[in-house]
Amino acid sequence: MRVVIAGGHGQIALRLERILSARGDTVLGLIRDPAHAGDVTAAGADPILCDLEAAGVGELAAHLAGADAVVFAAGAGPGSGAARKDTVDRAASVLLADAAERAGVRRFLQVSSMGAGEPPRPGTDDVWAAYVKAKGAAEDDLRGRDLDWTILRPGRLTDDPGTGRVTLAAPPVPRGAVSRDDVAAVLTALLDTPATRRTLELVGGETPIDEAVPRGAGS
Ligand SMILES: NC(=O)c1ccc[n+]([C@@H]2O[C@H](COP(=O)([O-])OP(=O)(O)OC[C@H]3O[C@@H](n4cnc5c(N)ncnc54)[C@H](OP(=O)(O)O)[C@@H]3O)[C@@H](O)[C@H]2O)c1
Repeated sequence: MRVVIAGGHGQIALRLERILSARGDTVLGLIRDPAHAGDVTAAGADPILCDLEAAGVGELAAHLAGADAVVFAAGAGPGSGAARKDTVDRAASVLLADAAERAGVRRFLQVSSMGAGEPPRPGTDDVWAAYVKAKGAAEDDLRGRDLDWTILRPGRLTDDPGTGRVTLAAPPVPRGAVSRDDVAAVLTALLDTPATRRTLELVGGETPIDEAVPRGAGS
């Protein structure tokens, strides 16, 4: 399988690159900082310099040519303000989906977040409100497309070692945490799952990933 990962130096992305390259897949990681290329290469992927807030759809589509799947794993990150929630968490996903359509790549995995699209509670800070709005808008954009999409909404991410056991189901799943290791393992299993057009929430749990993914994707 040939897989392109947007946000290729992200913490989930690097884990996913290691898993996919170890099993023999060809993986391209889109990065915006040339200094990140070495880490992506060390994870077994080919780094491609492409700033998702500056690239045009034609340039991005060229990077996707011949891919079997694309994964949107980018995010503006915890230190960013409301404006970059829109330019990365929403607009970069929309751009990647535009490019996937142009390049004829049907399989699209989007890393979203629990809480996406929910109206912010009174007193919510502006940046969190912008984040859930951006994630919700990116999801809505993807649902309207003729692509084989899966939206994965992890709970709070941790760097704990993966357990290989999760709770994965259509919303609503009770809030909780999940390790980035397990998110990467679930993304890998989703790439191998034919069932698509599903929105799935993910937290740590008791079900082995190889059971949870076919069960969740069928829900
Ligand atoms: N933190 C949580 O608890 C949580 C919970 C649920 C979901 N999520 C979501 O899960 C996703 C992945 O999480 P993570 O921990 O792996 O995130 P991460 O480590 O912050 O990775 C995000 C990646 O996106 C890249 N990026 C940002 N702007 C870019 C641009 N203009 N062009 C290309 N790449 C760009 C970043 O690159 P730079 O280093 O160059 O900025 C970074 O490598 C994110 O979308 C996040 O919102 C997070």
